[in-house]
Amino acid sequence: MYQKWISFGVVILYVCNSVVSLENGLARTPPMGWLAWERFRCNTDCKNDPDNCISERLFKTMTDIIVSEGYLNAGYEYINVDDCWLEKDRNTFGQLVADRQRFPSGIKSLSDYVHSKGMKFGIYQDFGNYTCAGYPGILGYLETDANTFAAWDVDYVKLDGCYSHPSDMDSGYPEFGFYLNQTGRPMLYSCSWPVYQIYAGMQPNYTAIVHHCNMWRNFDDIQDSWASVESIIDYYGNNQDVIVPNAGPGHWNDPDMLIIGNFGLSYEQSKTQMAIWAILAAPLLMSVDLRTIRPEYKAILQNKRIIAVDQDPLGIQGRRIYKHKGIEIWSRPITPLYQNYFSYAVVFVNRRTDGTPSDVAVTLKELGLASPTGYRVEDLYEDVDYGILTPQTKIKVKVNPSGVVILRADVQPDFNRRVPFYTTQRTPYNPLNQVFRLRSNDF
Ligand SMILES: *[C@@H]1O[C@H](CO)[C@@H](O)[C@H](O)[C@H]1NC(C)=O
Ligand SMILES: *[C@@H]1O[C@H](CO)[C@@H](O)[C@H](O)[C@H]1NC(C)=O
Ligand SMILES: *[C@@H]1O[C@H](CO)[C@@H](O)[C@H](O)[C@H]1NC(C)=O
Repeated sequence: MYQKWISFGVVILYVCNSVVSLENGLARTPPMGWLAWERFRCNTDCKNDPDNCISERLFKTMTDIIVSEGYLNAGYEYINVDDCWLEKDRNTFGQLVADRQRFPSGIKSLSDYVHSKGMKFGIYQDFGNYTCAGYPGILGYLETDANTFAAWDVDYVKLDGCYSHPSDMDSGYPEFGFYLNQTGRPMLYSCSWPVYQIYAGMQPNYTAIVHHCNMWRNFDDIQDSWASVESIIDYYGNNQDVIVPNAGPGHWNDPDMLIIGNFGLSYEQSKTQMAIWAILAAPLLMSVDLRTIRPEYKAILQNKRIIAVDQDPLGIQGRRIYKHKGIEIWSRPITPLYQNYFSYAVVFVNRRTDGTPSDVAVTLKELGLASPTGYRVEDLYEDVDYGILTPQTKIKVKVNPSGVVILRADVQPDFNRRVPFYTTQRTPYNPLNQVFRLRSNDF
């Protein structure tokens, strides 16, 4: 019976959330995988640095580890090449050619290898005359390159935006999407369309972007630092009224790669990135050396309960609902539903630098969790089960500096009450109408 309630809610939401979006059947939940760029950049020096250069060897090695070390089981299924995989010139047919030294077997062979391990294969191009690192861009060859990618059995295409006119993107990104579609091979389409337009002072047309892309970058490239992660968190919080409504099954905002396990983030900061990315319904693309990652960082990346929040089937992106004196609270509506009530993931962030954990105490009702049937609340990093709490219950969490506490609150069904499911009223979720405001709290 409970199951029935849930699926009914999901159907209603999909109907009310019927923005016109790209329908290639892909990315029903945010894509998960591994992407070379942030960690391995444009290292083409295979002579002196054979283990770390952009080469078929690197991607095969990472594929093997993703499978053998449990990442694929956790959901990370794409292995994605970024910039610097190309020869500097196209062949005589105008086709792209992979660097002959670094990819001696060619991309089709690499793609076959990835598929043979049960994973999917992603590649990179640029909507300009050159890629960001100066390799051949797509202008003049949109149809050719789409056909090449399909012939190589590519599953995912990231199209960057260097060396192009942002004003051309409103027609150019849809045009390449058209050619991808024409190949008949479903390929996830990752766009950089809004971020380049924002840099150029334009206002991106998210209606069009949602219609043509499976995901898109809104903001700066992530760098290996806490300052970079903080700037991204602030951007998504400060611009959430514009950004949040664009997310949904098949179409996602992309705050860029997970840098967990690299050099720049502490353990606490790594937990923060993972938790906030889950609230943002973000694609989870690890960019890290999986050969040397420490076990505690691997555990964060493989935290199944947080991944489940990120991958929640409703696909509603969460929001920052409180920000004051260095304390932030973020929340995201998730399944299961009961009557008019969502379940929620809630993240408490401590942005203070005073070096001591901060106590945050708040009632569930103040967080917008108002179901009289109560919520089962658990901590997703620590093994803490708060049991079933009513909206009036005040919960108190201790949040480490630059760290988080992430809770999951599952709304409880009322087993004593039997109502036929077709008589219930449901309010369609409209993020812009949703007001969560904590009034009297000052932690
Ligand atoms: C790309 O190259 C073509 C041909 O040289 C040129 O006409 C066009 O302006 C270039 N586009 C950009 C965005 O630089
Ligand atoms: C192409 O677009 C149509 C119409 O949106 C869609 O039904 C189809 O699944 C798409 N095919 C591919 C391969 O993306
Ligand atoms: C945005 O794109 C949509 C869909 O392509 C279009 O109908 C609309 O006119 C565009 N809006 C603006 C302001 O250009």
